[in-house]
Amino acid sequence: EKAGYEHFMLKEIHEQVSAIHNTLAGKVSELEGTIDLKELNMSEEEIRKLSRVQILACGTSWHAGLLGKYLFEQLAGIHCDIDICSEYRYRSPVMNDGTLAIAITQSGETADTLAAVREIMSYNCPTLAITNVVGSTITREANSVLYTIAGPEIGVAATKTFSTQLILLYLLAVKFALARGKLSPDYVKRFITAIRKVPGQIQQILNQKEAIKECAENFANSKSYFFLGRHLNYPIALEGALKLKEISYLHAEGFAAGELKHGPIALLEKGTPVITIATRGQTYDKVLSNIKEVKARDAIVIAVADNTDTEIGKYADIVLTVPRSDELLSPLLSVVVLQLLAYYTALARGCSIDKPRNLAKSVTVE
Ligand code: F6R
Repeated sequence: EKAGYEHFMLKEIHEQVSAIHNTLAGKVSELEGTIDLKELNMSEEEIRKLSRVQILACGTSWHAGLLGKYLFEQLAGIHCDIDICSEYRYRSPVMNDGTLAIAITQSGETADTLAAVREIMSYNCPTLAITNVVGSTITREANSVLYTIAGPEIGVAATKTFSTQLILLYLLAVKFALARGKLSPDYVKRFITAIRKVPGQIQQILNQKEAIKECAENFANSKSYFFLGRHLNYPIALEGALKLKEISYLHAEGFAAGELKHGPIALLEKGTPVITIATRGQTYDKVLSNIKEVKARDAIVIAVADNTDTEIGKYADIVLTVPRSDELLSPLLSVVVLQLLAYYTALARGCSIDKPRNLAKSVTVE
């Protein structure tokens, strides 16, 4: 059942290649430059009238949602708020007309998420669920459902459900942008060509997993680990830290790289591993400055960078590479490196990877 893999988690990390392919299948037309999400049940007119998106999710799904916020605002120009579900109900949220709620939950059974959805639906706010489980509770409550086609995820740590949630958020944001005249059909054609290449690019990362394993083994006894990212890779830094905490029981924190100097930098010690996502993009130079700040404290920088980057080696102690991609899609690649790093760290520490202590696959208490 593990198809030759030692753990479900490793199998599921590898299955991202087919899970992303399957989630995209039938939804994109490269020829026409269109995105077809029938299950959304929204006309172009309704999409144009949206004034706000409200995302509701917990844990890893919340990290997917945080990237979604960047995408909805940057690509489609739609104001987007995101809340952790266990907070949403108790903070007296202000409702606006023209809001679409998007609840993201891999299992479709998370009690906090279901409670937040009931709350927002009590204001008659239309609600779209993104889930991996057909027939789960959320699918019976939300007005519409988009499924990630990841197949069953057995490992408690979410991997392929996360990357396929991201795929649906990319498609939604680009579809909304197209309907609202923010992106041209030509741009969308190029976007579709690029997103279709992602499974192959993930396969290239998987083919080089030994380098990630070696790095994980070298730092498996660290006292704590830091993860930095900016812009679209900030949510990925948070996700990398969460994966490591969950399965290796190492203390790990994710930060927006620019926020480090506002306090957390005090935690850095000689030898602290600091994973920094430094793929090329608009914040690349700023990330290099952040790397210098970290190096000045004698911490160790492990950079996740493009395989075409000949400069990064001058700044970072260790470089883990991903294929060069569109900046927009780089989170889909950098996350795979961080998933593998967490996996191999937990393996080196002899942890119970598929069933970490204190955690359950779906959390049905509030
Ligand atoms: C992390 C993880 C949890 C879940 C969270 C929400 O690996 O699995 O943080 O992401 O409990 O679960 P769903 O997506 O089922 O609502």
